[in-house]
Amino acid sequence: MRIVLLGPTGQVGWELQRSLAVLGEVIALGRQGPHAGDFADPDSVARSVRALRPDVIVNAAAHTAVDKAEAEPERARLLNATTPALLAREARALSALLVHYSTDYVFDGSGSAARSEDAATAPLSVYGRTKLEGEQAIAASGCRHLIFRTSWVYAARGGNFAKTMLRLAQERERLTVIDDQWGAPTGADLIADVTAHAIRHAGHSPQDLGLYHLVASGETCWHAYAQFVIETARALRSELPLRVSEIAPVPTTAFPTPARRPLNSRLDTSRLQSRFGLRLPHWQQGVVRMLQETL
Ligand SMILES: NC(=O)c1ccc[n+]([C@@H]2O[C@H](COP(=O)([O-])OP(=O)(O)OC[C@H]3O[C@@H](n4cnc5c(N)ncnc54)[C@H](OP(=O)(O)O)[C@@H]3O)[C@@H](O)[C@H]2O)c1
Repeated sequence: MRIVLLGPTGQVGWELQRSLAVLGEVIALGRQGPHAGDFADPDSVARSVRALRPDVIVNAAAHTAVDKAEAEPERARLLNATTPALLAREARALSALLVHYSTDYVFDGSGSAARSEDAATAPLSVYGRTKLEGEQAIAASGCRHLIFRTSWVYAARGGNFAKTMLRLAQERERLTVIDDQWGAPTGADLIADVTAHAIRHAGHSPQDLGLYHLVASGETCWHAYAQFVIETARALRSELPLRVSEIAPVPTTAFPTPARRPLNSRLDTSRLQSRFGLRLPHWQQGVVRMLQETL
């Protein structure tokens, strides 16, 4: 099996380089390199993919800077919708499978129930809107596809919310963290492992292609997530100079940002778990592991 991986340097892309390796030959297309992979030039990305004739295209590249996207909607659209649409066209022409990632930000986050894949979308931001356009273009293309909507992604490699909290906890005695946005922190390693499993599964069960919610089990808010990270760090590394003595809960309105974010990012993953025969672990399990690796 020949797999072309786009966005290999990102959180999910990096873990995909590991998890896809057992399935076949993985050709990583970054922004630089022998094959053009800059999503700001959709035609050249499409030409590169066509020349490589993959069996599977995995797209982990995206414009993920949610606040910046508000100021550059055309660039966000190019990366999140226009280039994915051309990838879908190439996938269809090659009879290749296209794997793509989307986000809880396609929803408006009203209410408190976990949303299924069929729930009505209503993005609040340019990022959410352009990611939804990307999903819709892929679905409309008629190519074989798997789209995974995920949320609150972290990875051991690079910066993440947990690492920021640990840095601040060493610098300050008091932290304020949002307590009215709910979701599930999801490890890039989990997303990559499920992707590899799903590609394998789709090979013999084409009826299971389509759109899925893929997040860790359980739920939390950013405030409880921060508390958990700091408590776990204290337990794992008692010598860490954590000065923080108070973590105060605040509403989203305390941190005004250019992009509006959904308050309820709970996603129902029962479709993925039942169709692919998988069990999604609790979010705390992956966060503890990431802290064990990075502390
Ligand atoms: N992060 C989250 O919390 C989150 C939540 C929900 C859904 N998702 C979705 O999950 C997927 C993976 O996200 P992630 O967190 O792994 O993203 P990430 O760490 O921000 O990585 C983004 C990737 O896109 C690449 N990229 C950016 N601009 C590009 C361009 N012009 N041309 C080619 N590549 C470009 C980056 O390459 P460079 O290294 O060269 O910049 C990087 O490889 C995305 O579809 C995202 O929308 C993420």
